[in-house]
Amino acid sequence: MERLTSPPRLMIVSDLDHTMVDHHDSENLSLLRFNSLWEHAYRHDSFLVFSTGRSPTLYKELRKEKPLLTPDITIMSVGTEITYGDSMVPDHGWVDTLNNKWDLGIVKEEACKFPELKLQAETEQRPHKVSFYVDKSKAQEVTKELSQRFEKRGLDVKIIYSGGMDLDILPQGAGKGQALAYLLKKLKTEGKLPVNTLACGDSGNDAELFSIPDVYGVMVSNAQEELLKWHAENAKDNPKVIHAKERCASGIIEAIGHFKLGPNLSPRDVSDFLECKTENVNPGHEVVKFFLFYERWRRGEVENCEAYTASLKASCHPSGVFVHPSGAEKSLRDTIDELRKCYGDKQGKKFRVWADQVLATDTTPGTWIVKLDKWEQNGEERRCCTTTVKFTSKEGEGLVWEHVQQTWSKESEVKDDSSWII
Ligand code: GLC
Ligand code: MG
Repeated sequence: MERLTSPPRLMIVSDLDHTMVDHHDSENLSLLRFNSLWEHAYRHDSFLVFSTGRSPTLYKELRKEKPLLTPDITIMSVGTEITYGDSMVPDHGWVDTLNNKWDLGIVKEEACKFPELKLQAETEQRPHKVSFYVDKSKAQEVTKELSQRFEKRGLDVKIIYSGGMDLDILPQGAGKGQALAYLLKKLKTEGKLPVNTLACGDSGNDAELFSIPDVYGVMVSNAQEELLKWHAENAKDNPKVIHAKERCASGIIEAIGHFKLGPNLSPRDVSDFLECKTENVNPGHEVVKFFLFYERWRRGEVENCEAYTASLKASCHPSGVFVHPSGAEKSLRDTIDELRKCYGDKQGKKFRVWADQVLATDTTPGTWIVKLDKWEQNGEERRCCTTTVKFTSKEGEGLVWEHVQQTWSKESEVKDDSSWII
């Protein structure tokens, strides 16, 4: 959270499964749309928070399967575990507050007496979360009986039913909503209370997110019956919560537009970058747009037109250098020539490129350094390069690419790097 020194302009707190991630979209198009919007318009002054029911183990698995960005804050196990930054530093203060009137042994002992409850995988049983599967038809009755048993044994617990099959038992003070309230309080004491907060969800464990004061909310179009029912009974007249028309991450973009929380045009919705001139010189934008162009060029989705590569070449310094992750050095202009030859070589193939953690700093007047993680999905293989770009700009002229350097990130196991272009 040290990344920002002033209050974030927007904080998005989003569930993952069936909200940020559409498991019915094998191309991940809506997620990629969101990613480029976030890196283009929000990363530099906003916070991205993922709030998932998954344990750290299953969360990390999902990160390997889907092109998820790196969030600033990760809330896992239905609001019982909060971590910060890329290295996921745990919030021990939060854990301490959850011990109140909580006894894992008693919770398990009582819950195991119900034959309707089937214990979930071992990875999903956490210090402050015990999880089961239960049939939809039995859920209400079991929940009622369980609460009575816990009350008798002096425990103050919360039972949440999600996705028409999952039943989680948590301390009363836990849950996605309480975790968000805790986070907002913490940010406020640090002088970083977000200007706007948008909560996004699709199922029962997300309902609490929509009752936190001053928070905008979006239930994506594909929201589960139990969430829609909760909304109809509890939040129908709250104009700050909408049921989007669009699925998953596209529903989040829709809500940004609906509540006027900032830009809502994803670079992926712009078909011709030559026509898309931004008023302000912004080197971060330049990089996001370039890698998107690069994806489309190799997929053969833009016209094979000289004007594109000529304009790219013109924006490279004549003696600009590209350091390939293998260590080999080439001139930037030669690299563009190489790119010209690869037009359409990924047509009809699984090939996607996305930027993560784009960070632009202006070192000296007229000079910028942009750092980012550049990801490339190539068939079943995924690679990430830490990329640093140096730009210069003269008064009244556009940005000039001076130097590009790439190194393999620790997540990429690279055996052969000859297919990597830029
Ligand atoms: C995730 C978790 C699971 C939990 C469910 C609903 O799927 O893996 O343990 O029950 O979310 O919160
Ligand atoms: Mg979900």
